[in-house]
Amino acid sequence: MHEAVVGAGTPAAGALGQGAVAPAVTETHLDLPLFSRGKVRDIYDLGEHLLIVATDRLSAFDAVLPAGIPDRGRVLTGLSAFWFGRLRDIVPNHFISTDPATFPPAVHAQRQMLAGRSMLVRRLRPIGIECVVRGYLAGSAWKEYAATGALGGEPLPAGLRMGSRLPAPVFTPATKAQTGHDENITLPRMAQLVGADLTRRLREASLAIYREGAAQAERCGLLVADTKFEFGLEGGEIVLIDEVLTPDSSRFWDAPAYAATGSTESFDKQIVRDYLERIGWDKQPPAPPLPPEVIAATRARYREAYTRLTGGPLPEE
Ligand SMILES: Nc1ncnc2c1ncn2[C@@H]1O[C@H](COP(=O)(O)OP(=O)(O)O)[C@@H](O)[C@H]1O
Ligand SMILES: [Mg+2]
Repeated sequence: MHEAVVGAGTPAAGALGQGAVAPAVTETHLDLPLFSRGKVRDIYDLGEHLLIVATDRLSAFDAVLPAGIPDRGRVLTGLSAFWFGRLRDIVPNHFISTDPATFPPAVHAQRQMLAGRSMLVRRLRPIGIECVVRGYLAGSAWKEYAATGALGGEPLPAGLRMGSRLPAPVFTPATKAQTGHDENITLPRMAQLVGADLTRRLREASLAIYREGAAQAERCGLLVADTKFEFGLEGGEIVLIDEVLTPDSSRFWDAPAYAATGSTESFDKQIVRDYLERIGWDKQPPAPPLPPEVIAATRARYREAYTRLTGGPLPEE
């Protein structure tokens, strides 16, 4: 089922024909200077601009899996583009275009591969703080609360549990660690690093984006348990960069399941995590291959996240 059907399809059916799944794109090699290659995204350096290409690579338990998830990169880019459009009245962002016709001529031969998964953006100076907002207790926030009763050093009400909705969203910044996991920092520490004024503006912008995004997502049946924003500076103004409110920058939970059972399963990655736990992988790279049915079910989850949030199906390739 991961075989591309070569040949002309009707425009309505897309280039692959009805029901066919394009093969996953797990690496890109464009004739452009590389800016960075992350776990998921290959970013190319265009001088004043960057070309951010989301591949179909998937990581779980900190390891990149050998096979990709078809359509995952297009879902990530499609969701970022959707949110950049929706949120730009709250704070400006780096988005320029997802139309391959606007990309440099050097990559036009690969425009079909790039379509939908690539975004041209303005290159800015990153502020270097991971601006995390949490609406629910999970991950490192749950660990901190369980140990201390506080979050980011600020006390929270007693009696909260893993997955509890917080009385109000909380801004919990972190610094990017060179290796491994990010390091949570307090607001005073952030103010030492970037100044009190920038700290206040980043916190307010992050909370405002979270409130708007999470409210929209909840109406679509997805909870944004927590999420991370990055900002750059342009003429003294803060600008939202990187990706926004995607499954890779956020913990998405299924709202109906949470309401029914308190489930805090990852909307997108749970199937993969469950499989890797079930086969008893020791979590030491390299990660084992995924069976086709796990890949297919995970692909469906990403497509579902896109459809729920945007209200329409992921465009055909
Ligand atoms: N508009 C932009 N200008 C400059 N840097 C950017 C912009 N958007 C994203 N970045 C940077 O690109 C990098 C993306 O890295 P990423 O693919 O997330 O891998 P990782 O986070 O694993 O290093 C981040 O350092 C981010 O700050
Ligand atoms: Mg990143």
